[in-house]
This record gives sequence, structure tokens and C-alpha cells, in this order.
Amino acid sequence: MAERVEVLLTEEEVDKRIQEIGDQISKDYAGKQVHLVCVLKGGSFFMCELAKRISVPVSLDFMSVSSYGGDTKSSGVVKIVKDLDEPLGGKHVLVVEDIVDSGRTLSYLLEMLKDRGPADVKLCTLLDKPERRVVDVKVDYTGFQIPDEFVVGYGLDYDQRYRNLPYIGVVKFDE
Ligand code: IMP
Ligand code: MG
Repeated sequence: MAERVEVLLTEEEVDKRIQEIGDQISKDYAGKQVHLVCVLKGGSFFMCELAKRISVPVSLDFMSVSSYGGDTKSSGVVKIVKDLDEPLGGKHVLVVEDIVDSGRTLSYLLEMLKDRGPADVKLCTLLDKPERRVVDVKVDYTGFQIPDEFVVGYGLDYDQRYRNLPYIGVVKFDE
């Protein structure tokens, strides 16, 4: 089955919105250090762009969980593939994700991180598909709410491809 990608959000739109979120985070965390936790691999492009636009002190860590195979449907299985390097005790943790879809990955992850004694844990996602939510998740910072379509680019993949697109596109499948 052939596929093509149609632009949903341009590079300029995404960059402008990341700047706005960075400004908001800098205000909200004034006087504090924010500890960004990137959920690999999808969150990595967003996290780097966001971190550059935050003006309070920033530290970073990475973790990897799996919930999707080479398909567009959630398996519902959440597994830690790579854990954080640093403990979270006393830190102002901000989880940075590419997209919240069913919410299964994030609800599991947030509970796990809260058990590690951080000062607080918040969630920042570039994209949100609210129509698809199965598990309730509180999102503190959202880039864009998007319709229920499979998107790629800016870190998001289809079967590991398209992560490097500098914009958000919708994958269309031609019969
Ligand atoms: P959730 O647990 O269903 O919220 O799934 C979240 C994860 O599924 C995201 O971090 C992505 O890795 C993946 N995902 C969900 N929707 C899409 C999409 O439209 N394109 C690419 N990956 C997606
Ligand atoms: Mg992800």
C-alpha cells in the first residue's frame, strides 16, 4: 500500500508555537530549575527545540517506553525500554512528549515518575488527539490539538520513517 504525506502544520507554525510554550514555561518556572524528561524517540525533536527557548535553568534526561509496533494502532502495552539516568528527588519534572493519543503511555509513565519523589511532575506535549483518549491524562502544556489522523514529522514516525520532517504531516494511504 503506497502512502503520501500532506502538511498539517508548517515548520513556521510549529516553531512559533514552541516559542510561545517556551515563554510560558519560563514564566511558570521562574526562580526554579526545570528538569525536562524526554520520552524517546518521538519527543526528542520537540524537546531540543523547546529547551532552547526556556530561559530558566534546564537539566535534561531521557527515557524510552514502547507502546506501538510498526503499526498505527496502540498495542496497549507499555514497557520501559530505557530508564532515566538521574534520580528525580526534589526536582521540578516536566515530561516532554510528541503526542498524547489514547493516554495509556502517559498515565502509566506519570504515575511511575511521581513515585520517585519529585517536587512536582507536569506534562508538555507537542500534539494532542483528545478524541482518541481512553485514559484520562492532565496535560499542562499543549502545542496543538489535532483531529484523529495519523501524523508524522517533528519526531513522530510511521514505521520509524519521517521523524526528520521539519513539519507535521498526515499520512494518507492510497489503495
Ligand atoms: P498513547 O499511549 O496511545 O497516548 O500513545 C502515545 C504514543 O503513540 C506516542 O508517544 C507516539 O509514539 C504514538 N502515536 C500516537 N499517535 C501517533 C501518530 O499519529 N503518529 C505517530 N505516532 C503516534
Ligand atoms: Mg512518544
